[in-house]
Amino acid sequence: YRTLRIALLGAGSVGSQVAGLLLRHGEELATRVGARLELAGIAVRNLDSPRDVELPAELFTTDARELILGADIVIELMGGLEPAREYIALALSSGADVVTGNKALLAHHGPELFDLAEQVGAQLYYEAAVGGAIPIIRPLRDSLAGDRVDRILGIVNGTTNFVLDRMDTGGDDFDDALATATALGYAEADPSGDIDGYDAAQKAAILASLAFHTVVPLSAVYREGIASVTAADVESARKAGYVVKLLAICERVIDAETGVEGVSARVHPALVSRQHPLAAVRGANNAVFVEAQAAGSLMFYGAGAGGIETASAVLGDVVSAARRHVVGGPGVAESTSADLPVFDIGKVTTRY
Ligand code: HSE
Repeated sequence: YRTLRIALLGAGSVGSQVAGLLLRHGEELATRVGARLELAGIAVRNLDSPRDVELPAELFTTDARELILGADIVIELMGGLEPAREYIALALSSGADVVTGNKALLAHHGPELFDLAEQVGAQLYYEAAVGGAIPIIRPLRDSLAGDRVDRILGIVNGTTNFVLDRMDTGGDDFDDALATATALGYAEADPSGDIDGYDAAQKAAILASLAFHTVVPLSAVYREGIASVTAADVESARKAGYVVKLLAICERVIDAETGVEGVSARVHPALVSRQHPLAAVRGANNAVFVEAQAAGSLMFYGAGAGGIETASAVLGDVVSAARRHVVGGPGVAESTSADLPVFDIGKVTTRY
């Protein structure tokens, strides 16, 4: 096997899990890719910060630039706009593929970074930016690229869904529920990013841009958070057969005055019928409900936040990026190199 060098920027809740998985599953991933994935180093701001996963001290550095310049694939999980933007631009310009989970950065600077990637022939992957573990970027970009999406209804923020769910079922008040979501590690460093809908608006901009094949800037996303949702609102919704959810709604709309067709992206609390599949999305889970003209309705559901869950999406992108570097490797369709025995164990149970 040849070796691909991977630089990781950031070792927070997602980054430290990505490093742990790369080190633990490296050999198995090598057989899927046809190359060894070597974690060359982890750039962090502070070498002494505590980590969720125990990692070899010699991997850590504070010199992100040097690490980036020696890498084939750069994983950016430091968050924030700068220096994340500068580091990604440096990585792409040096010919590395980049994997990021940075929704704020994509919502603000996506077009310029995608242009740069195209100019230099590199790829920018971001499955982890929306919906944590849920595969939603590839389905919208690839699987549904031949269809016409009319509308997306997304529960794309785990923290607010957790808080609203607690209010709906547990009778918790808002502050208690938010404190629990923060303690469980779902909330952003500043939870107003969740509560006021900024996080969901960034994800709405990304989803709408993909679904409608147009640039939807963050500034065009209407945003209203859940701070004004009261226990009484949740209770009266329940009595009427609804549940209150913070929805990201992206849809085709026709301007009433001009008759011109365009798109709209907005984030606000909404009443969801208890019969709708989105009503069953509980806790910190996320779901993206897609209505497409030929495919009909599809729902993508799963863990929308959490370190190791989101790390799964990051590693999928790393494998995709790595496969691009390996001409004649196992490739996407024929990655059967694990060669496991298949057992016929018959009908064991009929209840799942
Ligand atoms: N704070 C985010 C959430 C994390 O609660 O969904 C995942 O983007």
